[in-house]
Amino acid sequence: MCGIAGYIGDKNTPEILVEMLKRLEYRGYDSAGIACISDNSVIVYKDRGVVSEVMDKPDRKQIHSKVGIAHTRWATHGEPSKSNAHPHVDCTGSFVVAHNGIIENYRDLKAELIDKGHRFESDTDTEVIPHLIEELYAGSFEEAFRNSLDKLRGSFAIAAISKNEPDRILIARKDSPLIVGLGDGENFIASDAPAVLPYTKKILILDDFDYGIVSKDQVILKDIQTGNEITRDIHEIQWDITRAEKEGYPHFMLKEIFEEPTAVEDAMKTLHDVEYVAKKLKKYQRIYFLGCGTASYAGLVGKYLLERFSIPSELVLSSEFRYSTVNTVDENCAIIAVSQSGETSDTLASVKAARNRGAYILSIVNVVGSSLTRVSDNVIYTHSGPEIAVASTKAYVGQLTSITLLSIYLAKELGRIQGDYLNEIIDDMHSLPDKIRQILSREDKIKELAEILSEKNIFLYIGRRLNYPTALEGALKIKEVSYVHAEAYPAGELKHGPIALLEAGVPVVAINPNDDLMEKMDSNIQEARSRNATIITVGENCKIETPVTDPMLSPILYIVPLHLFAYHMATSRGLNPDKPRNLAKSVTVE
Ligand code: G6P
Repeated sequence: MCGIAGYIGDKNTPEILVEMLKRLEYRGYDSAGIACISDNSVIVYKDRGVVSEVMDKPDRKQIHSKVGIAHTRWATHGEPSKSNAHPHVDCTGSFVVAHNGIIENYRDLKAELIDKGHRFESDTDTEVIPHLIEELYAGSFEEAFRNSLDKLRGSFAIAAISKNEPDRILIARKDSPLIVGLGDGENFIASDAPAVLPYTKKILILDDFDYGIVSKDQVILKDIQTGNEITRDIHEIQWDITRAEKEGYPHFMLKEIFEEPTAVEDAMKTLHDVEYVAKKLKKYQRIYFLGCGTASYAGLVGKYLLERFSIPSELVLSSEFRYSTVNTVDENCAIIAVSQSGETSDTLASVKAARNRGAYILSIVNVVGSSLTRVSDNVIYTHSGPEIAVASTKAYVGQLTSITLLSIYLAKELGRIQGDYLNEIIDDMHSLPDKIRQILSREDKIKELAEILSEKNIFLYIGRRLNYPTALEGALKIKEVSYVHAEAYPAGELKHGPIALLEAGVPVVAINPNDDLMEKMDSNIQEARSRNATIITVGENCKIETPVTDPMLSPILYIVPLHLFAYHMATSRGLNPDKPRNLAKSVTVE
């Protein structure tokens, strides 16, 4: 949800900033901007549009500088426009700021600043920050910056520069991610690691209430509240730059779907962590899975898996949990928070609230060192590698793998699964990557189907039990990337409402595993067929055929063709699935 970048060093800053922004674009892409200091003045270049539209122009290439900040926006306050694009400057053109997050008290601050004679150019909450710095400036940029932070309520990751002190970028963080990439005679600021990866693998991750002074040879971090210097560990990014490149695929989404076999393999490597955590989890009386979007569906699979072993649990959407379910939480509760980014605002807030009430927190996360991992008692990393496409695909498969492992090991701890069966499941899990590759090898058929159905404007997805979440995820993916209305229902509910939507040719995607509910599913499919719906079944011997597997593992396998289908629906409709309208990958605002 907005990406920010910064560079200080001897190279030509604008070029580096633009490259960094392109790697952060998954966080927002309705407008872009850079601000640099050149010849003792601040130059701001920004406009509405994606980074390449705004930046790949001859006049932008005329800007030369050795220090600058940049921003790619997902609008919250103020429509996407040139004046609302970041960075924002003060009245004197001395201070300039890029910000990710929401300044909740901006209306009051803005009114006070206007009373004092400040002139505003945008509708954004962010613009109060450079004006506050201007107002509080008495000779020290750092002091004015820190005093301004003190007045802000809400969430922020901020990068600021001043023409008065061009040897530094000031940064700060509260509830929005921010890292510093450490170079040799140069340093980088970014919302996320992929942006700095072409230049360095060494990063510092800021914590809430940290601020910093970044010069080309030094990074000093301090506590916003006390002003005291602090140290943060240097992390080494484990993955290679190619993992954040398209590597010949037309879109990141397709590349990431083709990485789903590896996502299973990588998540399986954490077996030891899972066994350890299962031992801790067994003592809790109530288990809540939390998540948003796709991650919530992985949590829902977790609930059904645990129920299979007679272990009660609930999935609650983070945006609801934080304002209601949390009131019922105490030290007998365990929270399993599922998140690709580890930065989703609602999930973080729910976890913090549950933690305050004494709950045990386990998070299942992809991004190493993300905020969620720092408020959790234990973390299971899915290690799926960077996921760049806005719509989550391989991360979901990684989450399902970790959650399946966790469920069977928790069942083992509680004596609810036989050792032989557990070993069988593990063996079967090891064969999943090859089975997924088999599905991917039939991409052409799925593409053909998507082309045939690409003009349809409503889809119904149905599934039961473990594959109800598969239906939800399949339908969400279509909505996200193809802008087609898709509803997912537990198949048994079809007759209680959605069947009214059926008429000749409406596509019904029925997820139909070979299990004890197969006949029930068949009846539901017949009900739809009798209304002349176009039925697309997913499973063994189905229209979209999947290899034989234990039904317990079917969600991991069955989602693969549905991800591919959604991708090809989007491209058949001439859409870019990597950047769906109105969406952002990391939702760091409420
Ligand atoms: C956004 C993304 C989704 C993602 C959800 C949760 O809505 O567009 O793809 O599933 O956030 O994100 P998380 O990082 O917490 O998994």
